[in-house]
Amino acid sequence: ETVAWDPEDAEKSGYDHYMLKEIHEQPKALRQCLRGRIDDLDGTVDLEDLADLDHEGPIQFVACGTSYHAALFGAERLQRAGVRAQAFLASEYASDRVPVDDETLVVGVTQSGETADTLRALREAARAGATTLAVTNTVASSAARECDHALYIRAGPEIGVAATKTFASQQLALALLAFTLSDGPTREELEALRDIPGQVRTVLETTEARAVAEEYVDADAYFFIGRGYHYPVALEGALKMKEITYRHAEGFAAGELKHGPLALVTEDTPVFAVVTGDDETARKTIGNVKEVEARDAPVVAITDGESDVTRYADHVLEIPAVSDLGGSVLANVQLQLVAYWVANLLGRSIDKPRNLAKSVTVE
Ligand code: AGP
Repeated sequence: ETVAWDPEDAEKSGYDHYMLKEIHEQPKALRQCLRGRIDDLDGTVDLEDLADLDHEGPIQFVACGTSYHAALFGAERLQRAGVRAQAFLASEYASDRVPVDDETLVVGVTQSGETADTLRALREAARAGATTLAVTNTVASSAARECDHALYIRAGPEIGVAATKTFASQQLALALLAFTLSDGPTREELEALRDIPGQVRTVLETTEARAVAEEYVDADAYFFIGRGYHYPVALEGALKMKEITYRHAEGFAAGELKHGPLALVTEDTPVFAVVTGDDETARKTIGNVKEVEARDAPVVAITDGESDVTRYADHVLEIPAVSDLGGSVLANVQLQLVAYWVANLLGRSIDKPRNLAKSVTVE
């Protein structure tokens, strides 16, 4: 499994930071992730890495940080297909508390393949008899070598400590995995997947994220809300903001706001709301947007414009109108850019944020 990458990848290619370069590498990384894995003729997914994987039972994901958010995304698609799938924080996974046996497939999502918490969880699962699968960006990493199977996300080297292109590539790889382990993609999902790299490029050509960052650079805190596929995006948007701006940020399932966090909402806490389509989920999230708007919080809607959320938003970060699965990949790009520009305005050490490491090899 080798991926040919230009030697210039080792440089920043004219960008001020590796993080910004890697945000802009997403179209290429996502094309690479999909290459050879979608059979256009019969509309099927073909993961040659997993040709010998045949699994019917429950699926457990174990991961940390951004990779955990990608695992939630993968679990969501499997659950919608009726598969018993659940994502666990690797540091909280203990096979003596979680039912795991030889009927279980345990998937370690880890771009480095060296995260100690995730490796420990995978080793425990293997000892309990589970089949293990590593979804990773790093060929010959510990996770890839120790698991029974490996699925490579092919994002290429990611230098910035904050994960960007590897999250998007994990989303697509986990969507492909979910299709393979369940009912297969619908025609719409397949269309959406194929169009995503080009639509990410469209999002990268917008400039509103920088204006939003300039408007709210001095906020007390930043809140992110979403439902379904957009719940992991809300968590990831908050993590990006925390990691590189050092400002407080929190992601919520949109329905959870009224169960407590709403007490934190003031005119100084911008709320980023991810809303795509105009279905029941979108309408419920708009209800949550109205709750925060009524408390004078600034609202930034990340939306495809299919619903009337823009009526309640102070700013709109547009994404192309796609399915909610694809929309979550596109919305995340907008949130990556907001976090980047806030950190840039604050003069932070964007590629090497304080206290953090690219791969956490201690528990
Ligand atoms: C995300 O921006 C961070 N770099 C961190 O949360 C990271 O996702 C986590 O440590 C897991 O790393 P892994 O994917 O290499 O296992």
